[in-house]
Amino acid sequence: MSAPQEGTSMTQVSTAPMATATAAPGPTGRLRALLAMSGNPLDYVTGLRDQYGPVVRIPLGWRDLYMVSDPEAAHEILVTSHRNFAKDVMSAGRGKWAAPLEVILGNGLVTSDGTFHRKQRRLIQPMFHHERIAGYGRAFAELSDDIQSGWKDGDRLDLQVEMAELTLAIVARTLFDVSLDSDVAHTIRTAIPRHEGPLRWDSLPFARHLAKLPLPGNKRFYEGRDNLDAIVYRLMAERRQGDGQGADLLSLLLAARDADTGEPMEDLQVRDEAITLLMAGHETTASALTWAYHLLGSHPEARQRMHEEIDEVLGDRLPTVEDLPRLVWTDAVLSEAMRLYPPIMGVARRSLDDFEVCGRRVPKDSFVAIVPWVVHRDPQWWPQPELFAPQRWLETPRSAGPTDELAGHAVRPGRPRLAYLPFGGGPRQCIGNTFSRMEGVMALATLGRHWEFEPVPGFAVDTLARITIRPLRGLPVSARRRGARGVRH
Ligand code: HEM
Repeated sequence: MSAPQEGTSMTQVSTAPMATATAAPGPTGRLRALLAMSGNPLDYVTGLRDQYGPVVRIPLGWRDLYMVSDPEAAHEILVTSHRNFAKDVMSAGRGKWAAPLEVILGNGLVTSDGTFHRKQRRLIQPMFHHERIAGYGRAFAELSDDIQSGWKDGDRLDLQVEMAELTLAIVARTLFDVSLDSDVAHTIRTAIPRHEGPLRWDSLPFARHLAKLPLPGNKRFYEGRDNLDAIVYRLMAERRQGDGQGADLLSLLLAARDADTGEPMEDLQVRDEAITLLMAGHETTASALTWAYHLLGSHPEARQRMHEEIDEVLGDRLPTVEDLPRLVWTDAVLSEAMRLYPPIMGVARRSLDDFEVCGRRVPKDSFVAIVPWVVHRDPQWWPQPELFAPQRWLETPRSAGPTDELAGHAVRPGRPRLAYLPFGGGPRQCIGNTFSRMEGVMALATLGRHWEFEPVPGFAVDTLARITIRPLRGLPVSARRRGARGVRH
C-alpha cells in the first residue's frame, strides 16, 4: 500500500467538474481488468490504489469503474452529495448488461432507489432502532448457546459453516419467528441460492443473458427463489390470521403503515423487504464472525484477553444486552475483524452527473465504487494497517501502556468518519448495523464462555471476494473446551 500521494490530502468533490480536473489514471485492457477482477480482486484493486492513487479508472468489461479510496471523498459521495448518485449500478445506464441482484431481492431496501427507497426506509427504520433490536438480545444469546451444545472437545469444525448456521438461526427467529429445525428454516437453508445462477455471473458483461440460459445452476437458482417466495407468502398468510401482535420483523413489516397515506405495503413489497433482510442479514454477520475467529486463531494474546473479559463480565451465565457496554475488548475484536476483513466487497453507485473528485474527472453514468478493504488498509489512516490490533478501538486504553501508539487511535476525534466503512455511510448505510454488532458481540461472548478454537496447522485461509468477502475453503479449526486444558471454566 502506498504512502499518501501528492495532491491527495486535500479532497475536492464537486458535481461541476473544474476546468483543471484531469482524467483519472488507471490500467488499460478491458479483458485483462475483467479477468483480474474475476480472479483475486482484492490484491488487484489494492495494487491499483498503490500505483494510481485515490481515484482509479478501471476499464471493466464494457464500462468504466472509478474506484475512490479517499475517506473524505467517500463521505462526499455517500453522504453530502448522495443525491447525485444512484444505487442502480447493475440495472441502469451502461450497467444494463449485468444480472442484477433484483432477480432475488426484487425492489427491497438494498435495490430500490430515490423517493420510493426513502419512503420504504422511513417505514422500516423504526424496526431497527436500538430498543427494538435489544429485544432480540435473548435470541442472539440463546441461539448462540444452542449451536455449541452439540460440540465436543477436540471436534474439527468448519467455523464458516457453523457461523452461517448460527446467523441463519438468528435471522429465521427474528425475521420469521421460526426455529432452525422447522421446515421453513430447512427451505431457507437449501433455497438461498448463494453462489449459483445469476449472482455467480454478476461481474461478467453478458451476465443478464447468461442468467436466462437454461443452465442447471440457473434452474436451481430460480427453483430456490420460488420455494423461498412460497414460504414467505405462507408465513404472511399465517401472520394475518394471528393476533397481529408478533414481534418478528415479518409481523412488523405487515403492520407498518405509511405515515402520509396510512396504507400498508403491498404483499409483493413485503416479500421483497423480507427476502432482502434475510439475504442481507445472514451471510454478512457470518462472515464477520468467521474472520474474527480466523484472526483470534493467530493472535493468542488477543484471544486470551477476550476470554478473560468474558469470564469477568459473565462468569457462567449467558450475556444480556446490559452486558454489552462492559464487553469492550470483545467489541473491539469484532470492529478490528471487520476492518481487516470487511464482509461487503464494495459500496457502489452510478454518477447521475459529471463530477470531480480529488482533482479527477468522473463522467456522468460512471460506476463509482468504494472498496472498504482498500480504505481500511491504507497507512494514511491506519498505522500498521496489516496488524490485527483490537486496542485501536479502545476509548480508554486500559492496559495498552503509553508505548502502544495504536491504542485508541481509531476512535480519536478528528479522523475522517469514513476511514472505516464496513456498513457504508449516509442515508443508504446498513440498516442492520446495530443488529449485527449486537448479534456479533453476543455470539462471541456466548461461545467464548466455553470454547476456544485452534487453527488447523498448515491450512491456508484464502479470501473469496465476490459480493461478500469470505474464506475460500471455509475455516477449519479444532474446538477446545475451555477448562479441558486447565483454562478457567
Ligand atoms: C456484519 C454485518 C453486516 C455488514 C458488514 C453489512 C454491510 C452493509 C453495507 C456496506 C451496506 C450498504 C451498501 C451500500 O450503501 O451500497 C448495507 C446495506 C444494507 N444492509 Fe447490511 N450489513 C450487515 C448486516 C446486516 C443485517 C444483519 C441486516 C438486516 C437484518 C442488513 C440489512 C441491510 C439492508 C436492508 C441494507 C440496505 C439499506 C438501504 O439501502 O437503505 N445488513 N449493509
